[in-house]
Amino acid sequence: MSDATTVTVLGAGTMGAGIAQACAAAGHAVTVVDRQPEALERCLATVDASLERLVRKGTMSDDAAAQARARIAVTTDLAASVGGAAIVIEAVYEDLATKQALWRQVDSHAPAEALRATNTSSLSVTEIAQASSRPERFCGLHFFNPVPVLPLVEVVRAERTSPATLDEAVAFATAIGKTPIVCGDTPGFIVNRLLIPYVNDAVHALGEGVARAADIDTAMKLGANLPMGPLALADLIGLDVTLAVIESLHRETADPRFRPAVRLRQLVRAGKLGRKTGEGFHRYE
Ligand SMILES: NC(=O)c1ccc[n+]([C@@H]2O[C@H](COP(=O)([O-])OP(=O)(O)OC[C@H]3O[C@@H](n4cnc5c(N)ncnc54)[C@H](O)[C@@H]3O)[C@@H](O)[C@H]2O)c1
Repeated sequence: MSDATTVTVLGAGTMGAGIAQACAAAGHAVTVVDRQPEALERCLATVDASLERLVRKGTMSDDAAAQARARIAVTTDLAASVGGAAIVIEAVYEDLATKQALWRQVDSHAPAEALRATNTSSLSVTEIAQASSRPERFCGLHFFNPVPVLPLVEVVRAERTSPATLDEAVAFATAIGKTPIVCGDTPGFIVNRLLIPYVNDAVHALGEGVARAADIDTAMKLGANLPMGPLALADLIGLDVTLAVIESLHRETADPRFRPAVRLRQLVRAGKLGRKTGEGFHRYE
């Protein structure tokens, strides 16, 4: 990496804001790019609120928060923002065509040696990397929401990722205070491969009349010592996101274990997406 302190984050949504904050808090100069100016404003407001919370909790000093904030710039100008980047992390919509089109544009402006990473949750990193002329410099960096709080990063080795690229990605994730683990480019990587089928199975159990939603959640909280039940977790993740991941696992593997639960699809079709819409398996004020 030519200059480990210059990071460009593509996409100023939930994940882009969190990734930018984590990189800036670790001392990197970060530029966040989005095609919507409103998204960039929301991103800065999200970072401000998150830094304030960390200061209030005593996790971060006032000074450190102000310095981190000062290291984040935002722009709609993709060409200018990737021109000097040592690392480009993409966190735009979970849509293959959108991601590939963006990476083609990035490639014509970014330094050839820049590390390229996608934060995709359910698409193939290898397939996204096909849009880049430097697939050996391309890998997955899968962060978890909320990024400033959750320590894990899945570093995804795509088919053409070079060993040096993988080492740099692991070193980068470590340097920003995260705990990286390396995994192959398989559907759901590790966490979603194990977690989402469990959540989907809880919805099957609900559909089979095993118990009421509240009782399924209480059972797994108190009987398995988990911080929350699977249906409350689905509401937190978003039922649309949960459905997209289980559909992707099912499509990629054709394994009947990953058959999406009917009730999950019904709720998504009704716009009941969980906490973000006020209702999913549970109701929220
Ligand atoms: N939300 C999560 O919990 C989570 C967790 C891990 C990974 N991810 C992955 O991270 C990525 C982003 O998810 P999110 O929840 O932050 O999405 P989001 O919808 O909150 O934000 C996406 C942003 O990308 C911008 N965008 C779209 N196309 C663009 C383009 N061509 N150029 C520049 N900006 C563009 C949009 O304007 C939007 O602001 C997805 O790949 C998702 O699968 C999400």
